[in-house]
Amino acid sequence: MRPITESAAWNLLSAHRKALEPVHLRDLFRDDPLRATRLCLELDGVFVDYSKNRITDETLRLLCNLARAAEMPLWIARLFAGERVNLTEHRAALHAALREPPGRPKVPGHVDVSAEVGHVLAQMRSVCGSVRDGKWLGATGERIDDVVHIGIGGSHLGPQLAVEALSAYAHPRLAIHFLANVDGAPAAALLARLDPAKTLFIVASKTFATEETMTNAETARTWLESKLGVAAVPKHFLAVTANRDAAAAFGIAAANIFEFWDWVGGRFSLWSAVGLPVALAVGMDRFEEMLGGAHAMDRHFAETPLERNLPVILALIGVWYNNFFGWATRAVLPYDEGLRLLPAYLQQAEMESNGKSKARDGRPVGFDTSPVVWGGTGTNAQHAFFQMLHQGTRVVPCDFIACAQSGAWLPRHHDLLLANCLAQAEALMLGRSEAEVAADLAQLPEAERQALLPHRLCPGNRPSTTILVKRLDPRAFGTLLALYEHKVFAQGVIWGVNPFDQWGVELGKQLSKRIAPELEGEAALAPHDASTAALIARCRDWRQD
Ligand code: F6P
Repeated sequence: MRPITESAAWNLLSAHRKALEPVHLRDLFRDDPLRATRLCLELDGVFVDYSKNRITDETLRLLCNLARAAEMPLWIARLFAGERVNLTEHRAALHAALREPPGRPKVPGHVDVSAEVGHVLAQMRSVCGSVRDGKWLGATGERIDDVVHIGIGGSHLGPQLAVEALSAYAHPRLAIHFLANVDGAPAAALLARLDPAKTLFIVASKTFATEETMTNAETARTWLESKLGVAAVPKHFLAVTANRDAAAAFGIAAANIFEFWDWVGGRFSLWSAVGLPVALAVGMDRFEEMLGGAHAMDRHFAETPLERNLPVILALIGVWYNNFFGWATRAVLPYDEGLRLLPAYLQQAEMESNGKSKARDGRPVGFDTSPVVWGGTGTNAQHAFFQMLHQGTRVVPCDFIACAQSGAWLPRHHDLLLANCLAQAEALMLGRSEAEVAADLAQLPEAERQALLPHRLCPGNRPSTTILVKRLDPRAFGTLLALYEHKVFAQGVIWGVNPFDQWGVELGKQLSKRIAPELEGEAALAPHDASTAALIARCRDWRQD
């Protein structure tokens, strides 16, 4: 296939970008009273307003042509058919199969995915029921009150995000904790306040070899053994992994190992048994509602024409800014503390997936791929970095995410939260013109007014997308996350990269394995660069002080 930059669609978009340069978002809204009603889509209580973006109908038409030039419909079909779209690892990326209702037809030449998924869901239902009902007894006969989920990256971010997002549905007795970082401080602090007799550990690792996870898991096992004896381990440890043998060698009983498969990528694994802490917190029925919401987005992505396809539209708007405006970052701004971890989750989803510089065929892509994804919750972020969003020299397209209903929370707070979200998107778009600022300052003496005026101007024309969720229930949460997952895939299609591998992460992992023993005084197996060697020496010196 020819590079996408040589397609007619790409060239037309470049020209279109120049034509759109002088057009302010204010002009687009003024000239088109139906813009807000046309440039939005809804699926199952997730409403996406993309009208505050620097796009016109013509932009969208050209962007959809770009998607066709990148063979988007074909790639979407390949993804859902279970083809080996993860080319460097020769694997399918069938996370959508994890949320399909039972009975997915067996794809010729593939394992019967549906039966395997159903088996693990049943296993999850049984264990969740017994822990939640207080029937799962630890080694001393006590029920479980605390669950510690140990995992990192894709084996951590989705589960913790989901547990926090769905906290309104949480089991009243069970407390769910997370250990991800290899930093011993949080591990020591957490273990110090837990009762081993009432604690259940979940070790979640696709490979069962990730250093951070295995170190935390071994620390937890040593702690448990020191309190309750070695024989207690099988009653206090579960594993979620694609490496059953390693989990068994760790000491986890066969019945307590929840399998997932090489066709589930780590950062797409929330929907597998990696979501066990979510199911423990909210119950299996609600976990399956979450799967149902994601499945609705799967169907939408697979079956909807590009022009009305939510993940495709969001992907294309991202490409438009990344590759035609050269805006290198994107802010994710949830106005809901339950979605506090969404920026971190999307950092992995987007940057680990599409942070690539080689095309599928191994040649340099020749343009920018994943933007830097960052963000934080409103309203806190307003008092931290929003100044730069409004008046800084760089344009940062924003995703605002808010929930219309507040659940059980205080309604006055929720009104303020929502109002701030809507106000920020409006302010970024409209800005504050010279005439408006001058009117604001009308009471001041002329000299002071002139001095202040440039500082008070806000250029506006800063684009954003608002995702309004009707109510943050399990179904809507599943829909929201699947929207972003498919957006990431769709962007990978446009950029022609494989979004399902992450070879870049490996190099640092290998080097850290070499350096750890050197910190303990062992000789280096191979020379380091002078800076790293000096830092290792200084760490050693200072550790002895
Ligand atoms: O960060 C690299 C990575 O491989 C992620 O893709 C993955 O989610 C994470 O490490 C954890 O891997 P595992 O589940 O095998 O412990």
